[in-house]
Amino acid sequence: MKAIVVTDQAAGTAGMRLVERPEPQAAINDVVVQVHASGFVPTELTWPSTWTDRVGRDRTPSIPGHELSGVVIALGYGTRGLSVGQRVFGIADWYRDGTLAEYAAVEARNLAPLPGDVDFAVGASLPISGLTAWQGLFDYGRLQTGQSVLVHGAAGAVGSMVTQLAREAGAYVIGTGRAADRQTALDFGAKEFVDLDNDALEDVGEVDLVFDVIGGDIGKRSADLIRAGGTLVSIVGPPEARPADGLAIDFVVESDRAQLREIVQRVRDGRLRANIGTTSTLDDAVATFNPSTRIKGKTIIRVRP
Ligand SMILES: NC(=O)c1ccc[n+]([C@@H]2O[C@H](COP(=O)([O-])OP(=O)(O)OC[C@H]3O[C@@H](n4cnc5c(N)ncnc54)[C@H](OP(=O)(O)O)[C@@H]3O)[C@@H](O)[C@H]2O)c1
Repeated sequence: MKAIVVTDQAAGTAGMRLVERPEPQAAINDVVVQVHASGFVPTELTWPSTWTDRVGRDRTPSIPGHELSGVVIALGYGTRGLSVGQRVFGIADWYRDGTLAEYAAVEARNLAPLPGDVDFAVGASLPISGLTAWQGLFDYGRLQTGQSVLVHGAAGAVGSMVTQLAREAGAYVIGTGRAADRQTALDFGAKEFVDLDNDALEDVGEVDLVFDVIGGDIGKRSADLIRAGGTLVSIVGPPEARPADGLAIDFVVESDRAQLREIVQRVRDGRLRANIGTTSTLDDAVATFNPSTRIKGKTIIRVRP
């Protein structure tokens, strides 16, 4: 099969190559998915799981890309819950070959049915960003109606999902990002926007929840904005500063079939809008991941036309 591989961590996305690889086999409780569309998080190439297996052995050449949509073509021993021919979407294991390939083997529990009226490209854009937003807001942030949420990077892949889900849950959303992202963040449902290069973050005042996708100095300064009893949720590693009288939490997203169903249902009924900036093909993927200009929104690779 055709697949994108990486072998050299120092090379970043410039080291990606389109090659021929053996088709994956379905292990216990797996399905093999004929990939129709694949999503890639640019920072994947810095994650240890892209380079080693769970006991730390080198697993290069590895296939990046961990979001997918496609059609089940084979079931592993013991697999239940999905059937051959079914449309699915979800997240592939970080420590296994990913989805920038014509086929991927994925544990069935990490996939959910993709309704027939949802385009494969949309399906592949939702799992990581949608589930990260859902889990950060509701599982870890325990967001309540009427609370205020500061969403960093509100025009980005995760931030746009956080903004929409928080708004739908009845929260007051303040988005942040670069000046050029203001209108996008407002269109996704933020009531206010903070341009991190030109506005003072501290002027936001107190909020109940900060959803941090940036970290560093922005993350540290955000801790001081959290109201007593509030929460700083970070998806970029352990927060460097904690709220004086609140919680600080960091986590890595996990696939969840019930939450994927919730997310895709919101896309179908218009409550949630995918944030796809660019689509490309597997043949052009390497060039697409090495853009000469900044790409907004998610990049989705249509593996099958
Ligand atoms: N823990 C988890 O489970 C998990 C899950 C998903 C993602 N992540 C991580 O979360 C981060 C965001 O992912 P994403 O897919 O949402 O990325 P993304 O689509 O690039 O979104 C990030 C947004 O934040 C903006 N931004 C970043 N640094 C900024 C700064 N200093 N000032 C102003 N704006 C800034 C970006 O603008 P520019 O494009 O102009 O920089 C972009 O709009 C990544 O580090 C990713 O690895 C973690």
